Amino acid sequence: MKIGVVGAGLMGAEIALVFALAGHDVLLNDRDQASLDRALARLRGVLEKGVGRGLYTADQVEPALARIRPALDLKAFADRELVTEAVFEALDIKAPVLQSLAAITAPACIIASNTSTIPISTLAAHVPPERRGKFLGTHYFSPVSRMKLVEVIPGFDTHEATVTQVLQIMQEIGKTPIRVKDVAGFAVNRMLHVFMIEAVKLVEEGVATPEDLDTACRLGLGHPIGPFALMDAVTSSLCVQAQEIMQEAYGERFRPPALLKQRVRAGYVGGKGKPGWYKLPGK
Ligand SMILES: NC(=O)c1ccc[n+]([C@@H]2O[C@H](COP(=O)([O-])OP(=O)(O)OC[C@H]3O[C@@H](n4cnc5c(N)ncnc54)[C@H](O)[C@@H]3O)[C@@H](O)[C@H]2O)c1
Repeated sequence: MKIGVVGAGLMGAEIALVFALAGHDVLLNDRDQASLDRALARLRGVLEKGVGRGLYTADQVEPALARIRPALDLKAFADRELVTEAVFEALDIKAPVLQSLAAITAPACIIASNTSTIPISTLAAHVPPERRGKFLGTHYFSPVSRMKLVEVIPGFDTHEATVTQVLQIMQEIGKTPIRVKDVAGFAVNRMLHVFMIEAVKLVEEGVATPEDLDTACRLGLGHPIGPFALMDAVTSSLCVQAQEIMQEAYGERFRPPALLKQRVRAGYVGGKGKPGWYKLPGK
């Protein structure tokens, strides 16, 4: 297929990569050349590290990278058959991108958004009514090259044939899709944040330390990573933001714990180069 991805950040670059690894022709767009160069350099690193871990073979690296062509001008997307939007999580940034994509691509092109918190039907309002049958959400998980799940989320007007086709495409690129209704947080984040909120409350009550609770989840529940290490990986600020959106939708059970908000305000957010629940190595 002729694939397009808009936004070459953490998610978009690796979404491009999984399509390229499956043999598809991919155009990758971002706002400037430097972002595209950075994304391609990072993907080379992902592939080379993956070869070292036995996830890919050495002869997959160059062909996969060659299938991802940077495109600064969205007009190059005119011949695309499936385009995924993965720009910043803000409606005022996503809306013009979706409007441009609907104007540039052919009516047969499927447009998918990788939003994690904006309702698909809200985004669908920014493509013309005649394109909404081929508009839906495909919610990937980070790191996209390794996490197999994709939540496939139809909006009010998404055609059933589009959903079926996208579920099949996801399987063909090696993902395991699940179909989810368009509700705040979709399915995974709803489960995850109830869990994270309760984990922070256990720390607030002095029941156990973050380290011990992570150990409990890994060794007692078989989770690959505990909730505190996960908050540090995705950043606690993003967690608070998601919890506030779900609190608005579902009420008190998603209220961000006071301790989590306090730590975010104090700068303990996690992410690259910042301390979180865990101190930075060597500090
Ligand atoms: N980070 C995660 O774990 C995660 C998981 C699932 C879904 N998501 C969603 O994926 C989307 C992207 O998240 P991310 O973490 O990759 O963000 P990111 O900040 O790493 O990347 C976003 C990219 O979009 C580019 N961009 C911004 N405006 C643009 C425009 N108008 N045209 C072209 N490119 C533009 C930026 O330059 C940047 O490279 C968001 O909607 C986010 O909610 C993120």
